[in-house]
Amino acid sequence: MTNLVLVTGGTGYIGSHTVIDLLQHGYSVVSADNYSRSTAATLDRIEAVTGQRMINHAVDLTDLAATRELFARYPSLSGVIHFAAFKSVPESVADPLLYYRNNINSLNNVLACCAEFGVRDFVFSSSCSVYGNVEIMPVTEETPLPEAESPYAHTKQLGEAIIRAVAAARPQDRFILLRYFNPGGAHESGLNGEVPLGQPQNLIPNITRFGAGLQASLTVFGTDYPTRDGSCVRDYIHVMDIAHGHTLALQYLAQSRNSANCEVFNLGSGNGVTVLEAIHAFERASGLKLNVTYGPRRAGDVVAIYADNNKARNLLGWQATRDINTMMESAWEWEQRLAGKGMASRKAGT
Ligand SMILES: NC(=O)c1ccc[n+]([C@@H]2O[C@H](COP(=O)([O-])OP(=O)(O)OC[C@H]3O[C@@H](n4cnc5c(N)ncnc54)[C@H](O)[C@@H]3O)[C@@H](O)[C@H]2O)c1
Repeated sequence: MTNLVLVTGGTGYIGSHTVIDLLQHGYSVVSADNYSRSTAATLDRIEAVTGQRMINHAVDLTDLAATRELFARYPSLSGVIHFAAFKSVPESVADPLLYYRNNINSLNNVLACCAEFGVRDFVFSSSCSVYGNVEIMPVTEETPLPEAESPYAHTKQLGEAIIRAVAAARPQDRFILLRYFNPGGAHESGLNGEVPLGQPQNLIPNITRFGAGLQASLTVFGTDYPTRDGSCVRDYIHVMDIAHGHTLALQYLAQSRNSANCEVFNLGSGNGVTVLEAIHAFERASGLKLNVTYGPRRAGDVVAIYADNNKARNLLGWQATRDINTMMESAWEWEQRLAGKGMASRKAGT
């Protein structure tokens, strides 16, 4: 058994941080990313942190023949971590077929190749969006999944269902579904972070971009929710904590500590943080005072969601080790590095 892992989406935000963690824990990595939502500059950033140059194959994983060719080149893969997907909720609402085609076809192809080429261990990027507008907090892995709130969330629910069916048909193979809550922050070296192509949809890069003067306004949508301060509650989790969850998941499978051949884990901090608290954490980290705008509630926003992470803690030995302050400090350091490079290089993906 080798320790060579195929990471799909390895030049994206969570993928690149996971590659860093894997390399630093003795794994060898090859990536498959077609650069539809990232650029080759990520390879330089991974090298700057780890001293190792990752090979990325710019394969579109919706292309079965190209995906098969890739697997055939690496006959000794010990596992696959499948990040590659599109992730914007509004874009998925505007163009659902794009999301079903990209997210589902790529998953099907990667699963088919794992079966054909005998790759036994598979880790899938799922999302807390599968829980939708849930009322009982914190959410556990047993919380029933309601009808999806968006085509994006539906691709994650469908992805999980496809993997469960494949797992039932292939008892010799092992699958882990990781449901991430709200990833944020950047690598502590300041050398790698999120490079949103276009307007980011998540809160933290919106805050840091506003702080850096890269966007004209920052709107808090809804100040009358039944929460501590009236703004929505989310579970922000540092991207390096998420990244390490993947290393632990592969180790868990390699050591056959799993009790079923398809298991699901929440990766969240377990702490609900309001939008206003997140903004204040940024203000402390940056020393800036943000002049935010207050707007009405936004359709489709869940009031509050945070994880019960006991299963990941007890079985994977995983812990959220960095809080919202650390997240904001690293995100701000990264934003300043991006800003220092100027808008031109930012548009090119840095
Ligand atoms: N960032 C979040 O807030 C979040 C939350 C929960 C779950 N997730 C999931 O985690 C995964 C990674 O998210 P991220 O934030 O790193 O996103 P990202 O957009 O930074 O990375 C995804 C990568 O996949 C690549 N890709 C997309 N479609 C592809 C295809 N058909 N073939 C080859 N490469 C393809 C893109 O070029 C990109 O580099 C996704 O599956 C996402 O749905 C993300």
